[in-house]
Amino acid sequence: MTQRVVPNHIAIVMDGNGRWATKRFLPRVAGHKKGVDALRACVRYCGDIGVKVLTVFAFSSENWNRPPDEVSGLMELLAMALTREVPQLQAEGVRIHFIGDRSKLSDKVRNGLTQAESMTAGNTRLVFNICFNYGGRWDIAQAAAQLAARGEAITEASLDRAMALAHVPDPDLLIRTGGEQRISNFLLWQGAYSELYFTDKLWPEFDAAAIDAAIADYAGRERRFGRTSEQLTPSPLRARRKAA
Ligand code: IPE
Ligand code: IPE
Ligand code: MG
Repeated sequence: MTQRVVPNHIAIVMDGNGRWATKRFLPRVAGHKKGVDALRACVRYCGDIGVKVLTVFAFSSENWNRPPDEVSGLMELLAMALTREVPQLQAEGVRIHFIGDRSKLSDKVRNGLTQAESMTAGNTRLVFNICFNYGGRWDIAQAAAQLAARGEAITEASLDRAMALAHVPDPDLLIRTGGEQRISNFLLWQGAYSELYFTDKLWPEFDAAAIDAAIADYAGRERRFGRTSEQLTPSPLRARRKAA
């Protein structure tokens, strides 16, 4: 029996909501609504199977370029999700963090984010990072600006500590649904050694079985971090020589 290797940290670019809706002759916002349902189920399932950190891309710094009615629909959806979903997440032991530039969000949404974070701050079952008005370049720039303001030297370690995801280890598995094979400014720094997994499934269709398939694929990868394969799995001969 092969042992199931559950990644500690899964990151997801939840793409394909618009196409899911368009295929059904529905407005794009209907796809985003369905996307919230898929996300609710995904958070629950990840908690159940022992994933420790889930980080999702919900709204990119570039998504402001969408038609104004779609952008306002997404903002409303976030506000609605905050009221409807947070109590349940709290009950399930999920700790919520919002990652991204909050300065462009309305006061109401901003307060909602802070409240959700403080309400769930004591939870330890699953850390759930929601990247909203997030961009990987923004994160690197804001981290560098923090260090410059404090007169700190810029090193890999100091930048790492100033990044918006400094409270969690880097993602082990980075999934993108919706068929595109690109990063779209997600986790540029933290994804340096993430295993990438692309699927044609549209985000609203990404269910528990699809998560299992991604994890099964991940389990078959060899994470070398620059080393050679032989260094990771020493041959019995080499092990004997070393012991002698
Ligand atoms: C991802 O789905 C959700 C957001 C970017 C907010 P899309 O809305 O990008 O869906 P497609 O790519 O148009 O199908
Ligand atoms: C990436 O999806 C952002 C989110 C999923 C929030 P996009 O649909 O915006 O990415 P591009 O524009 O196709 O690269
Ligand atoms: Mg898209």
